[in-house]
Amino acid sequence: MSPAEAKTRIESLTSELKQHNYNYYVLAMPTIADYDFDKKLEELNALEKQYPEFADPNSPTQQVGGDITKDFVTVTHRWPMLSLGNTYNEQELLDFDQRIRKAIGDNFEYVCELKFDGLSMSLTYEDGVLVRAVTRGDGIQGDDVTTNVRTINTIPKRLKHGDYPSQFEIRGEVFMHLKAFERLNNERIEAGEVPYANPRNFASGTIKMQDSAEVARRPLDCFLYFLYTERLLFRTHWESLQAVKNWGFHTNEHSKLCSTIDDVFKFISYWDKNRFDLSYDIDGIVIKVNSYAQQQELGFTAKSPRWAIAYKFKAEQVQTELLAVTYQVGRTGAVTPVANLKPVLLAGTTVKRATLHNADEIEKRLKLHEHDWVFVEKGGEIIPKIISVNLEKRSPDAKPVKYLTHCPECGTELIRKEGEAASYCPNDEGCHPQIVGKMQHFISRKAMNIDGLGDETIETLYQNKFIGRISDIYDLQQHSEELKKMGRFGEKSINNMLAGIEKSKEMPFEKVLFGLGIRYVGETVAKKLAAHFKNIDRLASATFDELIAAEEIGERIALSIIEYFSDEKHKQEIEKLQTQGLQFVTIEKEVTLASEKLSGQSFIISGVFEKFSRDELKDIIEQNGGKIVSGISAKLNFLVAGDNMGPAKLEKAQKLNIPIISDAELFEMIA
Ligand code: IVH
Repeated sequence: MSPAEAKTRIESLTSELKQHNYNYYVLAMPTIADYDFDKKLEELNALEKQYPEFADPNSPTQQVGGDITKDFVTVTHRWPMLSLGNTYNEQELLDFDQRIRKAIGDNFEYVCELKFDGLSMSLTYEDGVLVRAVTRGDGIQGDDVTTNVRTINTIPKRLKHGDYPSQFEIRGEVFMHLKAFERLNNERIEAGEVPYANPRNFASGTIKMQDSAEVARRPLDCFLYFLYTERLLFRTHWESLQAVKNWGFHTNEHSKLCSTIDDVFKFISYWDKNRFDLSYDIDGIVIKVNSYAQQQELGFTAKSPRWAIAYKFKAEQVQTELLAVTYQVGRTGAVTPVANLKPVLLAGTTVKRATLHNADEIEKRLKLHEHDWVFVEKGGEIIPKIISVNLEKRSPDAKPVKYLTHCPECGTELIRKEGEAASYCPNDEGCHPQIVGKMQHFISRKAMNIDGLGDETIETLYQNKFIGRISDIYDLQQHSEELKKMGRFGEKSINNMLAGIEKSKEMPFEKVLFGLGIRYVGETVAKKLAAHFKNIDRLASATFDELIAAEEIGERIALSIIEYFSDEKHKQEIEKLQTQGLQFVTIEKEVTLASEKLSGQSFIISGVFEKFSRDELKDIIEQNGGKIVSGISAKLNFLVAGDNMGPAKLEKAQKLNIPIISDAELFEMIA
């Protein structure tokens, strides 16, 4: 390679890897297999060594990666959170073993551990109490996510046994079990929300949420695997693992002490085969020198310890032929491309389809051509993913796959909003899967939960022109004779269905709102909106600023709500549903006053709290006669502030000299 070529290659690898770091750490949506990333990083490293004059000072080879976000307080780690060197084959691991032998001789042991595929977390304990939890961030600084981490059941908030030091840090991996991931992701799909690609992204997305009550709803777990103390308390890593287990920490039962590299290989090959039986994802094995004295002797490079290494499993990959790209239209009109593949065995299951996400994935990233041979991988993802195309097998006259311009169901031209990757069919009134999908969503268990009415019945009723929109369901009563005549349903099932429909009129506003199927208004968002705006009129007329002032409502949701209510057809449909007797007002819980201690006082609640959600605090204030108001003004009596409160709000309250109190102080007021 000539110096000029090396310069170009270094530049292109640098910018590509920076983008991948961003996708991984900031968007939590990697688009490259770990293996390919590491290979590119290795190539860049080698080139930079040969041509240091072309190296970018901020090259990805010089960084640990970063996921610091502006929403949390940044904390500097007492001990930097380093990453581990990676190996992918026996030879690389033998080289690691040789390096160690050369430095410390032959008398040592390894501890082999599973490499959990989650996000690393550093926990600080003082006098046995969890005081801080910080993400890895860029290795030097991370985000303070203590409030969210406190919701993880297996992380002790207070230690039981007495022989721990007064101050220590313990590190581990926060993750989500596969079962919980599937259940919660299915809930998201049902709610029309974007599903997470894998449990790791779900876990990291959850840890970065502003609402700790929602975090608590999503079961996370954490394995602890490294102890840091000011003074060495133990002789070996193994001893420290046994001790922290006794202090009450969740350590992993599969860790193993190995005295030879052959034992290490046995451990690796066992888990390479059996990892799919675990209830969580692992992506490799971590091998650590056991003795702390020997660890100290070996020391660190700039990025990672010399006494430990990760052996990464190669995600099982197979090649197969792309038969066709088909498209699915969802109830919101979102069009999802799917790769139909020649069936092939992968990680124990036959794969026939893979996700393609959107037009960019097909046309820009993969540059997919008809009948390409593709590499398919099943990593943490439940649905397999196309990693790359085997260009050698592409026939010279293959045509590029062109993303659809028109809806495959109704022929309407698709639209793609600026900044969004997905395409939509705008014909919500005339496109079969949208019409039927919306009604099926409305009657579903999480929404109106209508007894006696299922997806197939909705399809049949639509085919027979009984229903075309949600409000038609409530007119079915008037057509009971025609329904009976149709002969498709027995009298009993028709009566059951009509009774179920009638009963559903009692469903609370939040369920109706969720059932309407407004894009991005999932179950939780609908609950928050119903609690905040109280009725449909206030919600429909809310401004952008009013919407984003509500708990958990971001810009994307606010814009979608505004767009929904600006459509005359939607307004008419809601009016009709109102006259049919559905609930469009939040029924306030009968407030039995616990006391009058806050009577005449106004409050605003802001930030996140350790033990309560904002809604719970709001209820407590109202039950004691206090009033919740929406904006900070000179008339406000108290601002109840939790963690991570917006700086603008704080500044305004300080300027107006409004007393800022904690939740504990609020409780003192009503005690
Ligand atoms: S020890 C200095 N042990 O892998 C050593 N890390 O690629 C610190 N990880 O950042 C790490 N399982 O997030 C260690 N049993 C384990 C692990 C583990 C998963 C993660 C951790 C670390 C990354 C390094």
